[in-house]
Amino acid sequence: MAIVKTEGLTKKYRDLVAVDHVNLEIEEGECFGLLGPNGAGKTTLIRMLIAASPPTEGHVWILGKDLQKHAREIKAVIGVVPQMDNLDPDLSVLQNLLAFARYFDIPRKEAHRRSLEVLTLFELQNRMSSQIRELSGGMRRRLLLARGLLNQPKVIVLDEPSIGLDPQARYLVWQKLTELKSQGVTRLLCTQNMDEAALLCDRVAIMHLGKILNIDTPQKLVERYGDSGVVEIEVDPASRAGLIRQLKERGYEYTEIANHVHVFTADSDAALQGLVTSPLRLRRRQATLEDIFFRLTGRSLLE
Ligand SMILES: Nc1ncnc2c1ncn2[C@@H]1O[C@H](COP(=O)(O)OP(=O)(O)OP(=O)(O)O)[C@@H](O)[C@H]1O
Ligand SMILES: [Mg+2]
Repeated sequence: MAIVKTEGLTKKYRDLVAVDHVNLEIEEGECFGLLGPNGAGKTTLIRMLIAASPPTEGHVWILGKDLQKHAREIKAVIGVVPQMDNLDPDLSVLQNLLAFARYFDIPRKEAHRRSLEVLTLFELQNRMSSQIRELSGGMRRRLLLARGLLNQPKVIVLDEPSIGLDPQARYLVWQKLTELKSQGVTRLLCTQNMDEAALLCDRVAIMHLGKILNIDTPQKLVERYGDSGVVEIEVDPASRAGLIRQLKERGYEYTEIANHVHVFTADSDAALQGLVTSPLRLRRRQATLEDIFFRLTGRSLLE
């Protein structure tokens, strides 16, 4: 049974369809990634899944139950790590966690025990009595992650969990998120970090303009769309338009990123050199999830 299921899930803001008839099925214990450019609708989708925002249309079931009918019961088993920091600046680290535990009716003694446990998990046990304003950005993010686990959720929804974390902290968080799998915790992860998605996620959905374009394992997406490999071409502004015209005429799949053109092809370097009069700087490599992300979402940004 899918632990999270949506059907025709839609959110409209006046004329804008921020989330457009999304159908999702997330399996128990899975790490599911939601990828998409800024404004794709990821946060809006997630907010509907955690009953923080009512859908305009469509349905959500969590653990087989209709979210609208059982919101309170379902919220008790969902952990949330929001994109925006919403810690209480007037309270200490520990007080923030204890206050949060009250939403879930966790008895005070148990709330203390769990607070220490989650703080230790994210290496914040020494900051228990710090005020929020005394924490660095990365510490705050780790505290948000710790808080998201306080109610021992069956499903945890993380909106950009590793943003602002230094490399050590990021690896720590990745490790903890991986460990949650062995406890059967389902993870729904929204991220702009393609390495993070490729490393952690069993499956990813690529979202753009409110719609899900594709759902698959990171590996299958790379195989399907990037099997030929990628040639990165750095072009002078003067020869850029000519190169793009030639690529279009010959039916190459490519993406444009700043002054780089990435071509999905197994063709020889000589074949590509032949497309312009001036020499090209070429670099051939294997495709990554990031290339597939650009290929699926990048083109329509230019349209
Ligand atoms: N409360 C709101 N009122 C009106 N429009 C909104 C509201 N919240 C979001 N939007 C719009 O909905 C669209 C989707 O926004 P959303 O925050 O879901 O994107 P996102 O994929 O999370 O982007 P990011 O990667 O930047 O976090 C955007 O066009 C945004 O401007
Ligand atoms: Mg967002």
